[in-house]
Amino acid sequence: MWVPQQLPEISAPLKKAGLKLNAKQLADLTGDPMGAVVSLGGCTASFVSPRGLVVTNHHCAYGAIQLNSTAQKNLMRDGFNAATPGEELSAGPASRIYVLDSIQDVTAQVKSAIDEVVEPIDRTHALETIEKRLIASCEAEAGYGCELYSFFGGATYRLFRRIEIKDVRLVYAPPGSVGNYGGEVDNWMWPRHTGDFSFYRAYVGKDGKPAEYSKDNVPYQPKRYLKLADKPLGEGDFVMVAGYPGRTSRYALASDFDATANWTYPTTSAHYKNLIALVEETAKKDPEIGVKYASSVRGWQNTMKNYDGQLEGFKRIGAAQKKRADEEAVLAWLRTRGAQGAPALAAHDKLVTLGESAIAHRQRDFVFGQLRRGGAISAASQLYRFALERDKPDAEREPGYQQRDLPSVKAWLEQMDRRYDPRMDRELQAYWLREYVKLPAGERVAELDRWLGGSDEKAIKRGLDKLAKTKLGSGKERLALLDASRASLDKSKDPAIQFAKALMPAALRLEQDAKIIEGETLTARPAYLQGVIDYRKSKKQSVYPDANSTLRITFGNVKAYTKLDGSKQAAFTKLEEVAAKATGQAPFDAPANLLEAIADKRYGGLADKRLKSVPVNFLSDLDITGGNSGSPVLDGEGKLVGLAFDGNWESVSSNWLFDPTMTRMISVDQRYMRWIMQEVSPAPQLLTELGVPAKK
Ligand code: ARG
Repeated sequence: MWVPQQLPEISAPLKKAGLKLNAKQLADLTGDPMGAVVSLGGCTASFVSPRGLVVTNHHCAYGAIQLNSTAQKNLMRDGFNAATPGEELSAGPASRIYVLDSIQDVTAQVKSAIDEVVEPIDRTHALETIEKRLIASCEAEAGYGCELYSFFGGATYRLFRRIEIKDVRLVYAPPGSVGNYGGEVDNWMWPRHTGDFSFYRAYVGKDGKPAEYSKDNVPYQPKRYLKLADKPLGEGDFVMVAGYPGRTSRYALASDFDATANWTYPTTSAHYKNLIALVEETAKKDPEIGVKYASSVRGWQNTMKNYDGQLEGFKRIGAAQKKRADEEAVLAWLRTRGAQGAPALAAHDKLVTLGESAIAHRQRDFVFGQLRRGGAISAASQLYRFALERDKPDAEREPGYQQRDLPSVKAWLEQMDRRYDPRMDRELQAYWLREYVKLPAGERVAELDRWLGGSDEKAIKRGLDKLAKTKLGSGKERLALLDASRASLDKSKDPAIQFAKALMPAALRLEQDAKIIEGETLTARPAYLQGVIDYRKSKKQSVYPDANSTLRITFGNVKAYTKLDGSKQAAFTKLEEVAAKATGQAPFDAPANLLEAIADKRYGGLADKRLKSVPVNFLSDLDITGGNSGSPVLDGEGKLVGLAFDGNWESVSSNWLFDPTMTRMISVDQRYMRWIMQEVSPAPQLLTELGVPAKK
């Protein structure tokens, strides 16, 4: 997960692995091919035509597909193809495409701002202030959005400026039985046979500048777009990925690792399992609820299985012991360095203490956080919090509650209708309230106790009955309150607003506590990590920062692997295996015409000689994580050979400790994408736009 600034350092290894392009060309982030790579915020995508066509994973577009689905007209199940641009569907008001414009190192400014202050809380505020200032001046020109990111826990700060495209439309999605073939059974698994791809189109105003959705908007003309590979990809070939990996914890302390492995993962996983069961039970009686919560359920399932996989992986690689031993080695080395090692050692002690204090309240923080997330309560809390901040001048407001944040809050309040049902919401709230009343006395939140007026089922029912009368289930009502002042919300009779108001002091208190910890971490983390970096460099090891949702480059080769049970895994899967897996039952309910085409060996000119069939998915030894989904996979010439969409089961523990032997990235081959658009769910107009010659 190299940062682009490291390209000079990795140019020789890139060449050795098989890159044909000049590494200098890659370093031009708005050039070809890097300029074609975009972030969707949570997923990655790329431009593939001069008319703003964007390709990403089906599971990345799933939210947009869900927003446009009903139980009758179910695009998640049936797929979608806009035969003309006029038929393209809005991907929802909250959908974004971020086109990178520039990266600026602002470490000096940020450091000098936070180094001046003594009290941890003031340090957090100093960071917030300088961040807001940097962003405001970066966003002075309309159409750009800026974000500050810290690397190595705050050793480096970089300001990313991006064109923020706000009118995103769904162009194409294969049926769910292709795009999500294998479903949760196959998620994180290999061998794999999923057509995990979809297309969006980016739209801007007539002036070429980003604009909210409007019928009059026109397709965005990207400076760069990727071309499909014209050489058949095979085992051993060079591949690289540019994308936006979300988060890894490879530099975390052993104690943080233990807390996560022993508590956070098993706890979260168990709760998600319960939530999924709740929704699935209700959806049996009411299919519309199934549609509305499909995206949430999918997210829970994915995380839950990931955590379970990580826990299994930790055992396999002995992660706890290794983490501990690695840390001990660093500390021992630092101790030999006398005064030079002292700051990192002191910072390490500080971080251990901070970790312990977080552990003390983790149950409360987790439940309280979940309770205020999703549904009417969270809408009310957002609205109330926004009103609180609105009393201050914009520059003094809490980050996330400034004028610049208003459009995304509005979009979220707007689209909530399609992901919300009052009955389901009540059940989910009931779940978290029941969890809350289980907390030990010392961890209870006084404000919530007062609102509940008891800890039994009766009290919970009373509370839920009260909340049921909220009007915030309606999008109109929510949006009407977006500009409400605090005074008017204080007078509101709406029970969800009253709930938000009653709990606000507690929320602010917990936020304040978190900021104190953050203030300590802001100096301690980079000081300790500097020690780790120095240690690794002394051992001639490569050093790159943990993933932080910024642009990264990873490269390697198409590569098979052997599972622990000794079974050899081929690097490619092919059409016949899709058919062999089909049972007619979801998630292995491959479309009939797909099975026919396979039976007829209708390869449409896309077969690979080595496989004697059309390749479906393939493995490579690249280093990715969640957020990389949808990343374009490029060959040595920078052409598109596929899309990354998953990792294998053995790879997920690499988030904490990278295991090169077993870690594989799973991609969908562009030849399978074309085959689907040619033979199964035809989209001839898209193939033409992608520059595919018409079929003879
Ligand atoms: N596991 C993938 C990731 O988080 C997402 C795959 C989505 N597919 C699925 N069947 N849930 O990177």
